[in-house]
Amino acid sequence: MTTPEKSMENIVAQAAPYEQWQKTEGIPVLRGHSVDDLKTAEVGPWARKGGKGAFVNLDGTEMSADGYICEIPPGGSQNPERHMFEEIIFILEGRGAATVWNKDGRKQTFEWGRGSLFTPPLNTWHQIFNGQGDKPARYVAITNAPLMINLFHNVDFMFNCDYDFRDRYSGADGFFSGKGKNYAERIWESNFISNVYDFKLQEWKQRGPGANVMFEMADNTTAAHVSEFPMASYKKAHRHASTAHLIILSGQGYSLLWPDDGEWERVDWHTGSMFNNGHDRWFHQHFNTGREPARYLALHWQSRKYGTLSFSCSRRPLGWISVKEGGAQIEYEDEDPRIMELFKKELGKVGLKPQMPGAKS
Ligand SMILES: [Fe+2]
Repeated sequence: MTTPEKSMENIVAQAAPYEQWQKTEGIPVLRGHSVDDLKTAEVGPWARKGGKGAFVNLDGTEMSADGYICEIPPGGSQNPERHMFEEIIFILEGRGAATVWNKDGRKQTFEWGRGSLFTPPLNTWHQIFNGQGDKPARYVAITNAPLMINLFHNVDFMFNCDYDFRDRYSGADGFFSGKGKNYAERIWESNFISNVYDFKLQEWKQRGPGANVMFEMADNTTAAHVSEFPMASYKKAHRHASTAHLIILSGQGYSLLWPDDGEWERVDWHTGSMFNNGHDRWFHQHFNTGREPARYLALHWQSRKYGTLSFSCSRRPLGWISVKEGGAQIEYEDEDPRIMELFKKELGKVGLKPQMPGAKS
């Protein structure tokens, strides 16, 4: 063997390829368990995309997924781009349009507004326009860029690959029309949701009072769901991998996050907050202390169609089976009594009492 040129330790001590790329983008990076308000979070000039932006790297997502905030100036547009990672976009404020095309296809344009949810299909060209001349538009997106960039560690390939995934996007008319298919288990498959704020949900009681719906989009491996639970109620604790990013659409409250046999970490939230479920397989539980239903949008790995990545989430139906039966959920009757004590105390501050017919009080 020849004399080694440098220590392998020095090589592995370098930042991960995703982090190296992130530094070259030159925008703020927000960290922690939560972003208090996506609408007012700090953003900085973002030359590659156009407009302003900030990355969001929530603790515990373990480089499997990230988020970013983007602001498009009044009357402005972003630069066209394509990339080899999935991206789900949620409009926080404003209205405008997006144009999508693939290598051979003609351009297809659709309009969006506050509350719209859509995803440029994998590696399609896309460009986003602010339709208002007097106000900025702001959106938040979740991507699987950390995983993809770390896997290929070649940024040129990520942004300049010429392959058309025609199985994901054929260029067919009406792709972003908002039409879709309804499946059992509250699943709606569509490539465009015009307004998540008022999307009609279906009752689902296995995790406590409330309703939800799951979104499957553009044959992604990533997906979304919306949940809502009533005033003065809380959901059952459960756990899974740490890739879900929750965006509060309405209401106020808090969530508790904790590892097995560990202490709680608390995240207080309100409309516009974003947080995740802590580190890998931490329990998490959401509490509504307001006088209106709390509604959130969750963006995460594990679409139903392609949810086969073992790290991405607990395999269904473990998510709503009791931990006593090998599942991942703590039933109300099994929970730490301090959970309800804290909830009563927090509700008392706003003159409310728990409205939890199924739980111990
Ligand atoms: Fe969860």
